[in-house]
Amino acid sequence: MSTAEDGPWWRGAVIYQVYPRSFADGDGDGIGDVAGIRSRLDHLAALGVDAIWFSPWYPSPMADAGYDVADYRDIDPVFGTLAEVEALIAEAHAVGIRTIVDVVPNHCSDAHPWFQAALASPDAPERELFWFRPGRGPDGARKPTDWVSPFAGDTWTRTTNPDSTPGDWYLHLFAPEQPDFNWDHPRVRAEFEDILRFWLDRGVDGIRIDSAAMLAKDPTLPEATPDGPSPFVDVDAVHDIYRGWRRITDSYPGDRALIGEVWLPDHERFANYLRPDELHAAFNFDFLGCAWDAAALRACIDTTLTAHAPVGAPATWVLSNHDVTRHVTRYGRADTTFSFAAKREGIPTDLELGTRRARAAALLSLSLPGAAYVYQGEELGLWEVEDIPRELRQDPMYHRSGGVDPGRDGCRVPIPWTGDEPPFGFSPDGAAAPWLPQPADWKDRTVRAQTGDPTSMLELYRAAIRIRRAYPALGDGTMAWLPAPDGVLAFHRPPGFTCLVNLSAAAVPLPPHTNRLLASGPLDDDLLPPDTAVWLRTAEPTPTGPATA
Ligand code: NOJ
Repeated sequence: MSTAEDGPWWRGAVIYQVYPRSFADGDGDGIGDVAGIRSRLDHLAALGVDAIWFSPWYPSPMADAGYDVADYRDIDPVFGTLAEVEALIAEAHAVGIRTIVDVVPNHCSDAHPWFQAALASPDAPERELFWFRPGRGPDGARKPTDWVSPFAGDTWTRTTNPDSTPGDWYLHLFAPEQPDFNWDHPRVRAEFEDILRFWLDRGVDGIRIDSAAMLAKDPTLPEATPDGPSPFVDVDAVHDIYRGWRRITDSYPGDRALIGEVWLPDHERFANYLRPDELHAAFNFDFLGCAWDAAALRACIDTTLTAHAPVGAPATWVLSNHDVTRHVTRYGRADTTFSFAAKREGIPTDLELGTRRARAAALLSLSLPGAAYVYQGEELGLWEVEDIPRELRQDPMYHRSGGVDPGRDGCRVPIPWTGDEPPFGFSPDGAAAPWLPQPADWKDRTVRAQTGDPTSMLELYRAAIRIRRAYPALGDGTMAWLPAPDGVLAFHRPPGFTCLVNLSAAAVPLPPHTNRLLASGPLDDDLLPPDTAVWLRTAEPTPTGPATA
């Protein structure tokens, strides 16, 4: 465990995200599953991660790759069974790895029994569990609001009454197959509290909360205005939901954690979710979206630590996940930032440069104070697959935007494990083709090809996590910036640890140190080349600036 000795695990853990559809295929249908995850647990144990977060694996029509849940207490047959998941949780615990399940409380699937009942009759009591509303205008043909979906397009779909006349509309902030729950209704609250208990009773150590800032809506359903508060993002009533959830996790033995997917530009509002009686942690999307630029990163790190300090929550450091362009690709572009609005097909990238920066970013993110997230394949240096044929693309973000947004399939391509050609051990021999095609060039990126190669991304991650576990300075704790040339990030973590990241165009000398622990690339004598990071064992510095955490 890499955390400060007496702190709970989630304050300083390395958490690995498994996207079950693309991790490993045990049954040969070309789609990853629980059997596949169990067969590859040794990879995660060797990597040294503290916990695994599993993206949704529940029964689902898969309109949004499982983020459209039809039954929160079971497993989709494409992934396996509940008994297999229970075995996986036990096997992970046996090798010292904690488990986190993904709960999707903002919306369900249109195949969920409550929604089916609500659709069956305008008088069904289940209608109250969602947002059904008459349309505007004399014939109700205008949707109730003009809210815009993060998935592009409408947020309302009109229903048809049993007598075939046009009926009410229902709200779906995401795809039409994902109706939003009405969190003002006590039955919705009770149901999710029971779902949390269901998974906590099965021994999971944490819950990742999907779209965590969107559950509460302004019940008057006003229009969204550019300057006013959003009627459906970060509405104050959401905090009461999480206070209830925190009471539940606190009532369980062990340290059970609530981790929110909170995309909010306002840092103070973001930190509100992390008050001591709410969530334990939330993803740091500012860091993920930040440019590969020393001043921007330093400002982002400072803002992050400053926002977390008053609520006493640990920061999190995230470079990639199943929703964003892989950072090897991002960091090789002229514009290294990430935003959903700017996602486009065919932006030129230099993958060699992106890989060098990704290696340096790994050492940065794994040495900042707090918890670090690793998205599957990041440890293999995988890049975004940008040439998936149109007919194989599955992401509603791609289809709903008419292909303007390339969607998220490119970061969800199945993992290469072994061998020289697809499916690279993702599926057993003779199996169906993987659900998305893997690039032939991934033959150098398989786990097998990288194992034992000291220059590989995989061995860099293994070494970094091993050192992180061994050094009390790393994980949760404090840091202080050290004086450094322009374009260079240098910080100290007590006791005796320094990280230097060179984002400038020139090589820079290393500060005095007792030994070199790890570098993201070759050093030129005692000079740190551009786009390279190094971890050093150092004496305690004389601080020149205030500690930032
Ligand atoms: C956030 C998830 O990470 C994403 O994959 C999903 O499409 C949306 N929430 C809707 O559930």
